[in-house]
Amino acid sequence: MLHAAMKPLLFLGALSACALLAGTAQAAAPPEIRLEPAVKTGGLPLNEALAARHSDRNIKADELAPAQLSGILWSAFGVNRDGGKRTIPTSHGKNELAVYAVLKDGVYAYDAEQHKLTLALEGDFLGEYGKSPLIILYAAPDSVMGGLHAGSAYQNVGLYCASAGLANVVKTSGADALKGKLTLPEGYQVLAVQHIGLPG
Ligand SMILES: Cc1cc2nc3c(=O)[nH]c(=O)nc-3n(C[C@H](O)[C@H](O)[C@H](O)COP(=O)(O)O)c2cc1C
Repeated sequence: MLHAAMKPLLFLGALSACALLAGTAQAAAPPEIRLEPAVKTGGLPLNEALAARHSDRNIKADELAPAQLSGILWSAFGVNRDGGKRTIPTSHGKNELAVYAVLKDGVYAYDAEQHKLTLALEGDFLGEYGKSPLIILYAAPDSVMGGLHAGSAYQNVGLYCASAGLANVVKTSGADALKGKLTLPEGYQVLAVQHIGLPG
């Protein structure tokens, strides 16, 4: 026979077991991630980075360091000078590109002005793409301009990876993996997916 004083404990235990089963005991994804300030000096000389750039599909699952996450996003589409201008050129300077980071707890939109990530979709979607610890999604209007903007950004990141000793590969396969789940700006679609991590 259970002592009356034990009943609340039993109830709490059952609640935690249910929470665990439902997966709700995991820490929630933070609503925003403030990125470290972008490092605008150093790295490989440009010609050496160009010489080292290559696709590498053999990527370790280990998480990247905060400084690397910051460097990747800043290279992709960060503000690099006064007036909010970016590391890539865009048609009429209209910045028609949206960059997302798929991390273990959720999909985050990159806010270049604030150099931070804002939660756009909670949940672990990395498995949709393989085992890389970081997936960058490039979304833009499905037009020549959109493709050019995505291409400029993923090439910047490819060069950053070459300079930082990271593995990366750009893919169009997997572009629809979050269709219907991730809300994109009106008229945008994911045009390219970049897998990034430590070389395997
Ligand atoms: C727009 C674009 C789409 C690509 N799509 C894929 C893909 O779906 N799957 C894949 O394994 N590699 C993909 N790649 C990577 C290419 O296969 C790779 O860049 C090419 O083989 C040249 O190799 P390199 O990048 O090492 O020079 C893509 C590359 C680009 C630029």
